[in-house]
Amino acid sequence: MERKFDKRILCIGAGYVGGPTMSVIASKCPHYKVTVADIDTEKIAAWNSDKLPIYEPGLKEIVMEARGKNLFFTTQIDEAIKEAEVIFVSVNTPTKTGGVGAGMASDLRYWENTARRIRANADSPKIIVEKSTVPVKTAEAMERILSVGDKQGMFEVLSNPEFLAEGTAIKDLENPDRVLIGAKETDSGKKAGDILVEIYANWVPREKIITSNIWSSEMAKLASNAFLAQRVSSINTIANLCERSGANIREVSRAVGMDHRIGPYFLNAGIGFGGSCFKKDILSLVYLCREAGANQEADYWESVVRINEHQKNRFVRRMVSAMFNSMAEKRIAIFGFAFKPDTCDIREAPAITITRRLLAEGANLAITDPKALEEARRAIGDQDGHVEYIDDPYKAAEKSHAIAVLTEWKIYGELDYKRIYGSMEKPAFFFDGRNVVDHKALFDIGFNVYPVGMPALTHF
Ligand code: NAD
Ligand code: UGA
Repeated sequence: MERKFDKRILCIGAGYVGGPTMSVIASKCPHYKVTVADIDTEKIAAWNSDKLPIYEPGLKEIVMEARGKNLFFTTQIDEAIKEAEVIFVSVNTPTKTGGVGAGMASDLRYWENTARRIRANADSPKIIVEKSTVPVKTAEAMERILSVGDKQGMFEVLSNPEFLAEGTAIKDLENPDRVLIGAKETDSGKKAGDILVEIYANWVPREKIITSNIWSSEMAKLASNAFLAQRVSSINTIANLCERSGANIREVSRAVGMDHRIGPYFLNAGIGFGGSCFKKDILSLVYLCREAGANQEADYWESVVRINEHQKNRFVRRMVSAMFNSMAEKRIAIFGFAFKPDTCDIREAPAITITRRLLAEGANLAITDPKALEEARRAIGDQDGHVEYIDDPYKAAEKSHAIAVLTEWKIYGELDYKRIYGSMEKPAFFFDGRNVVDHKALFDIGFNVYPVGMPALTHF
């Protein structure tokens, strides 16, 4: 007979958000049964295996601890819907690729399919929690889809956006800056909101659990991502000026960030932001602005994405121009492919754009990354022998004309660059797209060094 649990929680969508979020709930709440369901059978098999489908520091430990006790991964979505009282939905909400709003608006088909499936299978009242990032007013659309016919009044939809960042997901979930719960301002809405507050209160201090109306909650998620991405684009524009003026972006960021009203975070200049969400969420915001006739506001936010594209182009142009305007047949070692360190995720990674541009220039690439090498191989392929994938950064650098750091993995700051320099073609170039190495030390070894936001150190 199955153990008795105080609550049965289901999450539909076992991706980067659903998996870690539910694993933390299960680990903090052994008295709840937590089920994570997905249509992707391979992914669910991986969640049930020793090799989890995603890499996140600390994730494996908590999954192994709770799996089979109060944490379950399944493809049996219909049965799981029937038994759950609270259903989180964390399916993907990518940018639409066709039709009205293509390239801007969010594609809500996965959300809508899920809502219809919940309606078809539910035979008791349920709280539906919007975990995916969605455009403002999505909860209303979902409620309309859920509450037709004899299912009227059976569902309460809440908004509970997720603020975790990849690479620090477990830390972020265990100790969040805030948990935001948006509910309808009705008695039943408030009651449902209280139930979700109780779940988080198992480990999150009450003062960090904030409630709001449902539209504010949806808007706050889009605004948070837009503000973070805007800081990255802002600092990158200043970095580009630094390269031309002799100023040093590290010194500028430090001075700017010490103003407590600004703060020190998200002021690292580089080759731009990647990841599945910043671009998609800003474009979704831009679309909302345009739909509302707020074109000035739309232009403002769109420029954050434009600057980000510019940053990647600039980086490649700087490489080409430094290397005598010819990359043809030169071997370039690419250090890092993931969109950020401590993840295997390459969605929207700047490395994708940059490697494609370098290939178009005729370069041969040796790509290395501690966790995302297989993902890189799947995305880029071998390009008729022009791309190699190599675990060992020392081997990747051998006989190369240049190294380009595209992900700020800690290890790239700690390699033996004397040894690496000795194995490279000369003159040897180093393009530090994430400012992770000691530039002066590499220059002294003999490299021609091109950091972001600082003048180049060259021997010419
Ligand atoms: P993901 O692609 O990793 O996972 C989504 C999962 O949903 C996939 O495994 C997919 O198979 C599954 N799915 C799709 N349709 C389904 C259906 N009808 N039934 C069951 N499963 C279905 O995406 P993600 O990165 O976890 O993001 C999910 C949502 O969370 C997005 O809206 C994203 O914007 C938001 N978000 C992501 C992050 C992040 O760091 N990745 C952080 C905060 C918020
Ligand atoms: C981001 C937000 O930080 C999360 O709060 C949010 O929940 C999530 O998006 C989401 O909605 O998906 P994530 O994309 O995982 O998280 O990672 P970030 O740490 O925000 O980094 C995003 C990108 O910006 C990376 O490519 C990173 O290298 C780049 N970045 C970040 C910089 O170039 N400079 C910085 O100073 C900070």
